[in-house]
Amino acid sequence: MSFKRTLVTSALPYANGPVHIGHLAGVYVPADIYVRYLRLRGEEVLFVGGSDEHGVPVTIRAKKEGITPQDVVDRYHTLIKKSFEEFGISFDVYSRTTSATHHKMASDFFRTLYEKGEFIEKTSEQYYDEEAQQFLADRYITGECPHCHAEGAYGDQCEKCGTSLSPLDLINPKSAISGSKPVLRETKHWYLPLDKHEAWLREWILDEHKEWRPNVYGQCKSWLDLGLQPRAVSRDLDWGIPVPVEGADGKVLYVWFDAPIGYISNTKEVCEAQPEKFGSWETWWKDDTTRLIHFIGKDNIVFHCIVFPAMLKAEGSYILPDNVPSNEFLNLEGDKISTSRNWAVWLNEYLDDFPGKQDVLRYVLTANAPETKDNDFTWKDFQARNNSELVAIYGNFVNRALVLTQKYFDGCVPALGELTDYDRETLHEFADVKARLEQLLDNFKFREAQKEAMNLARIGNKYLADTEPWKLAKTDMERTATILHIGLQIAANLAIAFEPFLPFSSEKLRRMLNLADFSWEQLGRIDLLKTGARLGEVQLLFDKIEDAAIDAQLQKLAESKKQNQLNAWQPAAVKADTTIDEFDKTDIRVGTVLECARVPKADKLLQFKIDDGMGGRTIVSGIAQSYPEPEKLVGMQVCFIANFPPRKLKGVESQGMILSAVDADGKLVLVTPSRAVKNGANVG
Ligand code: 2FM
Ligand code: ZN
Repeated sequence: MSFKRTLVTSALPYANGPVHIGHLAGVYVPADIYVRYLRLRGEEVLFVGGSDEHGVPVTIRAKKEGITPQDVVDRYHTLIKKSFEEFGISFDVYSRTTSATHHKMASDFFRTLYEKGEFIEKTSEQYYDEEAQQFLADRYITGECPHCHAEGAYGDQCEKCGTSLSPLDLINPKSAISGSKPVLRETKHWYLPLDKHEAWLREWILDEHKEWRPNVYGQCKSWLDLGLQPRAVSRDLDWGIPVPVEGADGKVLYVWFDAPIGYISNTKEVCEAQPEKFGSWETWWKDDTTRLIHFIGKDNIVFHCIVFPAMLKAEGSYILPDNVPSNEFLNLEGDKISTSRNWAVWLNEYLDDFPGKQDVLRYVLTANAPETKDNDFTWKDFQARNNSELVAIYGNFVNRALVLTQKYFDGCVPALGELTDYDRETLHEFADVKARLEQLLDNFKFREAQKEAMNLARIGNKYLADTEPWKLAKTDMERTATILHIGLQIAANLAIAFEPFLPFSSEKLRRMLNLADFSWEQLGRIDLLKTGARLGEVQLLFDKIEDAAIDAQLQKLAESKKQNQLNAWQPAAVKADTTIDEFDKTDIRVGTVLECARVPKADKLLQFKIDDGMGGRTIVSGIAQSYPEPEKLVGMQVCFIANFPPRKLKGVESQGMILSAVDADGKLVLVTPSRAVKNGANVG
């Protein structure tokens, strides 16, 4: 099949929170690299993005915040769109699934399938909240996990033990809306009979798309081998696109039915807005000379490789994806990225914290891209890749070539003289960079491809380090000119090779080189800059990232971790039964702190002098780390055990024990009466 154009889609992010580095590494950075590469080659390409604005999580957030679902998606759609723009994700269109175009497109799509008899209708029993008068989505039902018996497991999953559940599995189910016990009630839904599509899907994927990434192919194979089942494409919910048939009141299209249709709606929107540029939307979706590529994360594989293709095939007039390059997951500092635990680097915050450093994050996420397995992002690695790769290799090379040209040749490209064997060797090394990059980029191997581009910078850096033009300039201007001429041509090649990966830096470099016209075709040539051409103003391509900036990010994460500990805290199990007589044996009293100081050479101990109403006593307590300013405790009333036998701690005799509570973060908090009482008063 020879394709004439490429339609690239990237998974529509849910508009119920900002985008984080996991999304970027998994989907948006690779998709953007690919699209920029195709554009640079002069190919016809359309890059579609948008926000996924339906689904239960949006309604949950709205409820939590006391706002409408529309408010939630308005807020996040705007934030996500702006962050993508600033980050240089070069969508041709970034729209949303609450748009009128999309509502109509998804409705029509459903109706076409309905009228063609492509759905089956089934009635089943589902939980219903009689107080709130609504059916409950899986996430809206909580209860005891049948596996680990944790409380608060959701109807679709227990977060404690990770088991996937069905709401009917939960012990003592409770509605998360009203807290009442839900009842089972019959409800009708429309199902896409995937079982009917299994045969052609098997052949199409397993025989005809063996070139798909092993993780994608493997996941599809396991689904197909398990046997496909009909899937419900509607839900009982009041947020979404109403099911457009009779007798479907209170029912909406399942979010995974409408979201991929969003790719089509968004294409239609941009084609109608710019027909002269993009032509008809149907050419992009219905002409088999169009190549369709979906960039997604691994949790989306089944929807893009099985469900959506089955929908497209059932409709009958659409093309199917040619490839679905899906990445694995990116972890953060060794832990799974999690929105609810705030364990993430949010794109909008990154852009605020590191202004102008879009390319650094793009570079690091591609260098560590989870293309074949899950990978880890660490801030130390981010810093190291910036300082010792971008700054020390790419930036250093470009800077040397340009600064020396300013200094010795008045900022004009010097003439190329006779070549030495070493020059030829160097030129030979990068002669096939174009072919190598194409081979990798055409096969979605972005990580390797970026390495290849960086290798070109290494070649340049080594060339200047070996030939030392700054020394030669004292004795041999002609040779210096040749070296810098070659150096500048390599720099111009770098501006092209890195354009798909680091577009901001490439643009900056092109300005420095005064390289107005450029295309992928020029890559590997050494006549990109004409002898005598004047260069632009020299600037640093990258700056060093200092420890303080990294420490601030690590601090942010440490705070999230602490907050999570606090949130996850649960009271300890109650001890075995005791009796009032047993309890009465312990003599607990109130006293006032007269003096309090650290015990020398003991970092955990404080020595208290207590007015106990009985002549006073000394108590040593292990709470120094929770009270770094012990003198501030003077005058406070505390509770202590008065009848422990005295014992020596670090040479000080302690006559009792002061009571404290242990907080979720392990800090000790002194127990004090809620109003002043006489010193020596009994507690009990
Ligand atoms: O997993 C997700 O974030 C989904 N919102 C992706 C949807 S992709 C497409 F189908 F729209
Ligand atoms: Zn469990």
